Amino acid sequence: MIRKLGLVSALALATALGGCAAMNTAGSDPTTAPAFAIAPADYVRDIHSYARPEIARVTHVSLDLTADFEAQTLSGAAALDISGEPGANEIVLDVRNLDIRDVHDAAGTPLQFETGPNDAILGQPLTIRFPAFAPGERRRIVVRYATRPDAAALQWLTPAQTAGGQKPYMFSQGQAILTRTWVPTQDSPGIRQTWDARIVAPNGLRPVMSAEAVGRGEPAGPGLTAWRFNEPNPVPPYLIAIGVGDVAFQAIDERTGVWTEPSMLHDAHDELIPTAEMVDVAERLYGPYRWGRYDILVLPPSFPFGGMENPRLTFATPTIIAGDRSLVSLVAHELAHSWSGNLVTNANRADFWLNEGFTVYFENRIMEAVYGPDRALMLQSLGWGDLQSTLADLPPADTRLKLELAGRDPDEGLTDVAYEKGAAFLRTIERIVGRERFDVWLKGYFERNAFRPMTTERFLEDIRTHLVTTKALEDQLMMDAWIYQPGMPSNWQPPVSTAFVPVDAAARAFFADKGPASAIPWSGWSTQERQRFLAWRPENRREGADWLTDAQLADLEATLNLRDEGNAEVLYSWLQIAVQHRYQPAVPTLEKFLTTMGRRKFVLPLFQSLWAEGDWGRPIATRIYAQARPGYHPVTTNSVDAVVGRP
Ligand code: BES
Ligand code: ZN
Repeated sequence: MIRKLGLVSALALATALGGCAAMNTAGSDPTTAPAFAIAPADYVRDIHSYARPEIARVTHVSLDLTADFEAQTLSGAAALDISGEPGANEIVLDVRNLDIRDVHDAAGTPLQFETGPNDAILGQPLTIRFPAFAPGERRRIVVRYATRPDAAALQWLTPAQTAGGQKPYMFSQGQAILTRTWVPTQDSPGIRQTWDARIVAPNGLRPVMSAEAVGRGEPAGPGLTAWRFNEPNPVPPYLIAIGVGDVAFQAIDERTGVWTEPSMLHDAHDELIPTAEMVDVAERLYGPYRWGRYDILVLPPSFPFGGMENPRLTFATPTIIAGDRSLVSLVAHELAHSWSGNLVTNANRADFWLNEGFTVYFENRIMEAVYGPDRALMLQSLGWGDLQSTLADLPPADTRLKLELAGRDPDEGLTDVAYEKGAAFLRTIERIVGRERFDVWLKGYFERNAFRPMTTERFLEDIRTHLVTTKALEDQLMMDAWIYQPGMPSNWQPPVSTAFVPVDAAARAFFADKGPASAIPWSGWSTQERQRFLAWRPENRREGADWLTDAQLADLEATLNLRDEGNAEVLYSWLQIAVQHRYQPAVPTLEKFLTTMGRRKFVLPLFQSLWAEGDWGRPIATRIYAQARPGYHPVTTNSVDAVVGRP
């Protein structure tokens, strides 16, 4: 039956394959297939990808690209190793905003290709046709292409936008579905691919990637050097990442270190020294670190996220370099993704909580082991505070862990629900079964499912097989309610941080009882205590209603020296209060903050708050955005454009 499919279209083949379990492994030879090969039946439909992996799939990507800073393009070729079901005569890739030159096979014979209609979020399917696959066959196809200057994953920085001010810089952000704007491949988290790269860059600019560096740079023509990388672990394409700039490296220990611009290296290295211990602690908790080195690239301030867990090389915002290591939980978070996310990966965005909820849980365990339970509890408590406001704001359907994202941008799943409700769920299981049993299960979960995509349903199957084996326990845990129902189930017990009791008292004394700012024990507080203080809001606050007087705001600003606040988290919390009160004297501070960093978590909510302040806030937002927008990464501009409009 399979052989007869040689003539039918791939589409019909897919339909024919559906529900026919006996055929599923027919195409893969168990002796040569890599250990991570996924049976076609196990591919989960991903609504954010055009790929049809059940017919033909990419197993390896080999990039050969030149970074042209004048043209602001990456151009060259992606050679793709593919395997297919017998009879498959086409493969579908994801591309968005790429210039495809041609496609040929390993022998150089041109292959027919076609791009389908463009969707603003998903981009286009790139369908490549070839003679039908024989059983067990593997092939290589080569796509020659170039990116466009406005590729959504990439930001091309002018020298003025860097710390050094002398040389340009470029970096990528792949998650969720932006890798397709610079690599033509099957861009779905359920389709893992090994990869390697040769990157040609101007002399004096150093490419770094989320892979092992191979050898040293080699001359590649006048003024150019070629650099090689290899990622032997199969990864989802959103984890393929590149940075090219004037960056230098300093080791922390034998397997950890920091990459950043030379002028920032000393401070960044000093701030990130705890990284080495975190990797040791993480391994003790949940098993071996499977990625060789763990380095951190501290990017220019326009990096749109706090951190991104690119394998072997976490990308991080410079706003965590606070001078006192107060924001290093971000490193614990991105490091934890080396297990939750990079080893065991959400099969699609509806299961995003499997990546982020597990990671927030694991992050906090690392923080507890390194800094003790008080700090860990404070962090949990701050997370719970964020989650409470998120739960109040979101439509109930979006407060379920398993999301419904059909027809939506996957970014819409990027809320505290995945992060904090996800972690709260795991903490509830831990509390009920006991930490020891929970840890045994979690370590086993990472081992059993390493290098595999995970769905919520397969997670449930795993935990019901290995941990939740009695009816009594099943009833106590309420797992289905956590996952499929909105809000927080009745077995949730919020974290209680005793360290925050005096902070809350001070907040009430200042904000509610109108005491003087001089009574706030600010200088004795940690960053987390300061964040807690500034997050205080009256219980019955009405939207748009002031809860502080101008005199109180001025007292707070002067006494706490908030104009010179250097901690981005603290400054952000203050600026939210200031904007919500239309407090004009803070506008220069706000303007400076928004024009000197582009982290979306800070930028977007501040523009939203300004916009909500109508006649007062909108002109300020428009003016500041016109100035700031050219410096932001597309991830940030795309979000802010929707609020403020394009200047
Ligand atoms: N993987 C995420 C970032 C992400 C998620 C990018 C979805 C694009 C789509 C990363 O691990 C993350 O969660 N970063 C957080 C920091 C963390 C400490 C909560 C961030 O950037 O703020
Ligand atoms: Zn994360």
